Amino acid sequence: MLKKWTMFTMAFVLSVSVLAGCGARSQESSGGNEIGNDNDQQVTSEEKIVVKFSHVVAENTPKGQAAIMFEQLAEEYTGGRVDVQVFPNSQLYNDDDVLAAVQQNNIQLAAPATSKVSKLFPEWTIFDFPFAFPNVEAVQTAMESEKIGDKLFSMLNEQNLQGLAMWDNGFKQMTLDEHPLINPEDFEGQKFRVMSSKVLEAQFEAVNANPTPMPFSEVYSALEQGVIDGQENTLSNIYSKKFHEVQNYMTLSNHGYLGYAVITNSDFWNGLPEDVRAGLDKAMEETTTWVRENGQRLNDENLSKIKEDNTLKDIHELSDEEKQVWMDAMDPVYDQFEEEVGKDLIDAIKELR
Ligand code: LMR
Repeated sequence: MLKKWTMFTMAFVLSVSVLAGCGARSQESSGGNEIGNDNDQQVTSEEKIVVKFSHVVAENTPKGQAAIMFEQLAEEYTGGRVDVQVFPNSQLYNDDDVLAAVQQNNIQLAAPATSKVSKLFPEWTIFDFPFAFPNVEAVQTAMESEKIGDKLFSMLNEQNLQGLAMWDNGFKQMTLDEHPLINPEDFEGQKFRVMSSKVLEAQFEAVNANPTPMPFSEVYSALEQGVIDGQENTLSNIYSKKFHEVQNYMTLSNHGYLGYAVITNSDFWNGLPEDVRAGLDKAMEETTTWVRENGQRLNDENLSKIKEDNTLKDIHELSDEEKQVWMDAMDPVYDQFEEEVGKDLIDAIKELR
């Protein structure tokens, strides 16, 4: 009995020190005070593992809702041993520093748009190619394939990161202040905010517009003050951040995919007790299924709300013919990135088109 108890204590101390060594922050469940991560810290069996999850969007969006759902399920499936703390609306980190924060284990979860992952891993920019995916199912097929998904996820490990899932938001639409966007010529000379992605910059350059990379948190005021003329985003991001209140025209173009790589710190993740990790895996799987099934619905609902608000002068839905003209104008972007992204990945994406 004594021997068994001693072994249990040793196993417990070991797992705690692995977590502490990885920088996992812990909390005394009774008082809720953070006790830091010193190796010699006394811990009790009631210790909670804190998982900080930082993202940039509002709570009433596919990612915002998914984060809350993950928090609830993770706490349930780990029997309360994990305390997930969600920080929405760029409260904790902005787009540019969130991956570094995960690498340093200052936070344990982030779900940046794939475009932003491309700053560290240029190959991740493949989701940014204009009109690359006919629907979100095509993105899922890509992510489940060895040629694309496995390759993209495994490269994260080289930098102490681990991909846990892909969460869809949906397809981006264009907005502009000055005039409707119907033909490629309508883009000329207009300043568009882009996420930090060279492919997105090239997309706008292909139609003679001026791309301006900028964090999401700054877009509303940049539109309001006329620092930029337009932007591209999903309907849920446009509605929840009120971009439609500071723009006059929107074109439903569905020209580009916006999805998220849910990323954790490899050391942190691998240092978790197995049963805790299994609980988090289960929570992540269920949340991912929920986003897949509900992302589109949320975006559709937001289109209705944008229409109800009646702040835009016009919403134009791109016809098939107009879409083809946009595709032709933006097509050179694919060849432009063959070297940087890799011909094999670009060919794999083209196959899905
Ligand atoms: C953006 O910067 O426009 C998006 O990445 C925001 C988001 O995370 O959906």
